[in-house]
Amino acid sequence: MSEARTPLEAFRLVEHEGRLYHLRFSTVQRVQHIILFVCFFLLIATGMPLLFSETWLVRKMFWFEGSFTIRGIIHRAAAVGLFCISVYHVFYCLFSTRGHQDLRQMILSKKDLVDPLLILLYNLGRRPEPPRYGRFNFIEKFEYYAVVWGSGVMLATGAALWFPVQATMLFPRWVLDIIRVIHGFEAILAFLAIIIWHMYNVHLNPEVFPMSKVWLNGRMDLEFFSHHHRLEFDRLVDNLPAGLLERVRSQLNDPELGKRTE
Ligand code: HEM
Repeated sequence: MSEARTPLEAFRLVEHEGRLYHLRFSTVQRVQHIILFVCFFLLIATGMPLLFSETWLVRKMFWFEGSFTIRGIIHRAAAVGLFCISVYHVFYCLFSTRGHQDLRQMILSKKDLVDPLLILLYNLGRRPEPPRYGRFNFIEKFEYYAVVWGSGVMLATGAALWFPVQATMLFPRWVLDIIRVIHGFEAILAFLAIIIWHMYNVHLNPEVFPMSKVWLNGRMDLEFFSHHHRLEFDRLVDNLPAGLLERVRSQLNDPELGKRTE
């Protein structure tokens, strides 16, 4: 299954209003991301009220008869959505060309352990340049691992809460009580990680504020790409055919680009 439909897409490039952009996320990837966050926010919105059911706000929100039951139904429906998109994502990573390529880029390397130190030294003014990153920097990798781990934990613990009779056939009752605590705390952790960490990195960060539109249109400005994913950008430049390389040079106003390796 290959997603490259045009010659430009083979280089993960797209044209928009006469300019070239790096295609950071394909349509299939963007749809997966949207489904994931819709499910996630539904799960947060319908799970948290149970955790804080005694509070004034929750009582006000669920004032009408049956509203708490509806909340439980939506929570389970969104859980099924999360399960389906997770299974789809596993197949996508294993069997599609792009998914497989990106999965390989997600694997932790030694560089990902050194880069946090290098960026710290750069932020303290002890290094002249920040580290150069490939397709995914160490922050993006850790965020991805957190989502994979978090979804796994929530799916497993949520399934036990959903089917308590079957669960207590597998383990004692007190384990189910611990599972409920884990489900609740992991929910708070996931919520905070998304609101504080992810939202800051991809939207509130001054370089992209008020919002990066990559999740909507998949396009990343070439200049931004060359700064933030320099190693991947260099690989692209090394492989571009002459005509396209010339276009990138003129767009970035850098006639020397790629000359070292020509
Ligand atoms: C990111 C994903 C999820 C979040 C943020 C979340 C959040 C929560 C929270 C905060 C609670 C209340 C816990 C308590 O009372 O101590 C809860 C309960 C529950 N969750 Fe989740 N959950 C998620 C995923 C899932 C999944 C995947 C399933 C099913 C496979 C699930 C099934 C349940 C069930 C059955 C309950 C208890 C009963 C009810 O809601 O009516 N949850 N969830």
